[in-house]
Amino acid sequence: MTLGTSPQAPGLVRRRVAAGATAALLGLAVAFGSGMGTPASADAATFSGIILGVGANEAQRTVTWYSSADNAQQVQLAPTAKLVNGEFPADALTFDAAGAANIASSGGFNRHATISNLQEQTAYSYRVGSDGNWSSTYSFKTQDFEGDYDFLFFGDPQIGSSGDVPKDQAGWQDTLDVALAANPDSELLVSGGDQVETAGTESQWNAFLAPDKLRQYPWVATIGNHDVGSKAYEQHFTIPNNDRSGPLYSNGNPNGNSSGGNYWFIYKDTLFIDINSNSYATSQGGGGDAAHVAYVTDVINQHGSEAKWKVLVFHHAIYSPASHAKDSDAKVRRVDFPTAFSNLGVDLVLQGHDHAYSRSYLIKNSQKANPDEQPGAAEVYPGPGGVLYVTSNSASGSKYYDITKPDSSASSGAGNGADPLNPNSYWYNSVQNQEHVRTYVKVGVRKDKLVVENIRSGTCAAPNAAVERGLSCTNTPEGQPVGSLVDKVTIHPYNGDGQALQVSVPNAAPGEFGWTIDGYNGLVDLGTAVDHDGNFFEATGQINPIVVSDNRRSLAPWSISASVSDFKDAAKTFSGAYLGWTPRVLEDGAGAFASGAVASAYDDHGTGLSVSRGLGWANQGHPKGVAKLGADLALKIPGSVEKGGYRATLTITALSS
Ligand SMILES: [Fe+2]
Repeated sequence: MTLGTSPQAPGLVRRRVAAGATAALLGLAVAFGSGMGTPASADAATFSGIILGVGANEAQRTVTWYSSADNAQQVQLAPTAKLVNGEFPADALTFDAAGAANIASSGGFNRHATISNLQEQTAYSYRVGSDGNWSSTYSFKTQDFEGDYDFLFFGDPQIGSSGDVPKDQAGWQDTLDVALAANPDSELLVSGGDQVETAGTESQWNAFLAPDKLRQYPWVATIGNHDVGSKAYEQHFTIPNNDRSGPLYSNGNPNGNSSGGNYWFIYKDTLFIDINSNSYATSQGGGGDAAHVAYVTDVINQHGSEAKWKVLVFHHAIYSPASHAKDSDAKVRRVDFPTAFSNLGVDLVLQGHDHAYSRSYLIKNSQKANPDEQPGAAEVYPGPGGVLYVTSNSASGSKYYDITKPDSSASSGAGNGADPLNPNSYWYNSVQNQEHVRTYVKVGVRKDKLVVENIRSGTCAAPNAAVERGLSCTNTPEGQPVGSLVDKVTIHPYNGDGQALQVSVPNAAPGEFGWTIDGYNGLVDLGTAVDHDGNFFEATGQINPIVVSDNRRSLAPWSISASVSDFKDAAKTFSGAYLGWTPRVLEDGAGAFASGAVASAYDDHGTGLSVSRGLGWANQGHPKGVAKLGADLALKIPGSVEKGGYRATLTITALSS
């Protein structure tokens, strides 16, 4: 069980009240602790293109494959520890597959099944087929279902785009091998789209699906412009919470020959939303960007509170550095999306399509959020509405686009103007890179930050199809070897977002009575809770201090109080009454006194901080000045509370007369 504290970064949130009450909210966090199968006989079904996919949550996976025969098939699953000499045990689980005939150009049939109720920290083996006719056996492992984790993001493998499928496949295979050798515990492989060059060409799909890593780690598919023109994409990938309604297809027709649709899933406190950016204008026949904004809004309204992070994925980068930066469709999305994403509290947007790496400045409502953010800043602090956009370079080496120059258009909105701090770069980008070497993006999801790294998985040397076929290459293996970083940035999100730092600021003369939270954001970390022989868990911490200033002539009394919500982790919850505190005056002034201590309900069967409790106060006639109030928090909860990453909201109220 861990409780999270975010760094105390610069920046104060200022509130003032002349009279009456204001409330602000502090977040509290606590966490607890193409494989080819082997047919049994010559006329039995053969299996190809087996791929492991992400499920709706961390306890699910999907498996998708092609079959030569149209019979009933299953996924068979068992913990690897139960296999004896490679034989599945008698009590192996089976999951029935669904599927249909493939489109004519694919031939054969597709099958898919969802594996559910996986246990954490378990190695599993699986195979597909039917009794007596199974594929080869593959394996994957689950990890802890709570807490920190890493995922990897891969741009445009686009197998076939160099003109040499085997070379593209070799680079793709090598990036997966290099990335997962360096990061074997990564939990998801996220696609930036354009898996293949030609949507309906199965030989390219076979090459894309060839690496065995795609049967060991779940693939999070994203549709690109090169995948959209065929049903092969939908046949090869099974997607959780899939919305294949007409408006989410570029031509508005899910029953035509193209692929499409949007989906979402929650994986360990991250809400991922993956959208079909091929559809961007209603003139194409679908719902365009408006349908995507409505979809993302809906999903976040319904499920945003079940996760701590919101990550969007789509193919067509809106803040990219190279050949597609000035595309007319990119400019449309660059107008349609950013304000909505800012308002919805999106933390990170992952994109592909431009085959060059970029990391944006924090963008708020279509503008650089902070004009002073420096190029290449290692730490960024999005205030409310700040969103970071990443564009990935090629993961396979099949194609690279060179960085392009800004023009004289605007340095905001749809413009492609220059960055005043770095005139060769677009206004929206903090980092742009193109060396003509393969890279991938690693995202470290931590309780209080996201760490984004762009990492080289190749050098100029083969496998590097585009370079092998004549493109120049500027990388030096001595200075920029495999595994070295192109870029690294740590995002320290603003935990007190629109909900967690609500305050009403009245139209009163400023400076009479005011108070601030003395910290960058609202999240208070209670550290790791300690288990006391299974009887109870205990965790402690301190609230971010409250600075009170009062220079009113009236010398009127004031008080600050607070209450806490229930602690929640998705469906799991425990009462805020288990939180108690001991208020303290940290810096004397303004006549401040600390209010009395409140015990956890675990100790006194009372209501703890679940009802409003005083933090500090001053009497009528108190001296003018500034005080700093703090409180030691003491959480004590029953041993029966389930493991999880819990958060609660502390609502702070100021009263003055
Ligand atoms: Fe693309």
